[in-house]
Amino acid sequence: MLTGRRIVLGVSGGVAAYKAAYLARRLMEAGAKVRCVLTDAATEFVGAQTFAAITGEYPVVGFFDEADVSPHTTLGQWADAMIIAPATAATMAKLASGLSDNVLIGTALAAEAPLVVAPAMHTEMWSKPATQRNIAEIVADGAIVVGPAVGPLAGGDVGQGRMVEPEAIVAAVAAALTRELDGWRVLVTAGGTREAIDPVRYIGNRSSGKMGNAIAVEAASRGADVVLVTSAPPPAMAGVSVISVETAQEMAEATWAQAGDCDVAVMAAAVADFRPKNPEAAKLRRNEGLPAIDLEPTPDVLAGVAAMEPRPFLVGFAAETGSLDGALRKATSKDIDLLVGNDVAKTGSGFATDTNEVTVYTPDGSAETWPLLTKREVASRLWDRIIASYDRG
Ligand code: CTP
Repeated sequence: MLTGRRIVLGVSGGVAAYKAAYLARRLMEAGAKVRCVLTDAATEFVGAQTFAAITGEYPVVGFFDEADVSPHTTLGQWADAMIIAPATAATMAKLASGLSDNVLIGTALAAEAPLVVAPAMHTEMWSKPATQRNIAEIVADGAIVVGPAVGPLAGGDVGQGRMVEPEAIVAAVAAALTRELDGWRVLVTAGGTREAIDPVRYIGNRSSGKMGNAIAVEAASRGADVVLVTSAPPPAMAGVSVISVETAQEMAEATWAQAGDCDVAVMAAAVADFRPKNPEAAKLRRNEGLPAIDLEPTPDVLAGVAAMEPRPFLVGFAAETGSLDGALRKATSKDIDLLVGNDVAKTGSGFATDTNEVTVYTPDGSAETWPLLTKREVASRLWDRIIASYDRG
């Protein structure tokens, strides 16, 4: 999978460093040439000798204890790809701001190659605004971030923050090097639409746009040109161009204008099915009594794309509550290629979470349920599935 590829593995100081040794082994087994760069803190968790024994090369740890006068540029220029695993909160902060006070960050700055970052930390640290700001910048700068996953953490805690398994990191670096969606044009819809009642109020839903964002980011990290039509805050990422919309009508117009040029359209948005027929021009007043709000249907964005000739490979979503029977019905009746169903009433699967448990249906009614995964992992599996199912001809 990685035959002859030159991979720099950067290891920072978290307990998941013990898994980085196994990651080095998996990279070697996949045929890569591996050189490691460790922070001082990483060596508190796993000795440099371990990485030397696995890769056949002594890791670089300090700027000044090498025979090489410029170890960071040597390594950076040598790399076909670089991985930072685990990436601690401190390492991500330094990476986000370019603070190269250790040789790992220096190497990341010197490298022109794709960078895969696998964060690992406690849930509280991961969810802090500072960490989220840093990760957003790292992604905007073009890095591919995998994880963190949900599971056991240091000290017996459980939550999101666990480094993804080495196999997932090997797959991410292989995908980054293959760029298997190079030349593909992808359209993603995301977020929940807002339909005005009056200038102040709207009919909306609880969709956060996180699932659609993850699908867009994953496609871009695999080399696709992505158009994201969204009513939610978008990710900033090279390769993702954003069209911001608010209503179902605006989403329909933007989507239909773009979809004809796309290879794949993934409709992850939660589009309102009904809108007020005559939104009020001025704010409704309490003392005017109970308003009667007449509704009318909105355009079916997905159906419009399904009716195009030719049409892109089309993936629909179905947010259900309780039974997924509705998702199965949609998969078999909507003239689409795949349908991703989830039960938004289930813990960990709802709107605004970072995780999702989905069942993927094909039009013939076959179904495959995936375990509870981060939305990014769902996105990654979904793209694997789309690529396997879609023949671009
Ligand atoms: N969708 C759309 N335009 C709409 C409504 C839905 O493009 N006006 C898309 C969604 O983005 C999703 C799929 O259609 O990919 C299914 O949405 P859903 O609301 O579950 O489908 P409905 O047919 O409206 O089903 P329900 O009977 O549950 O309302």
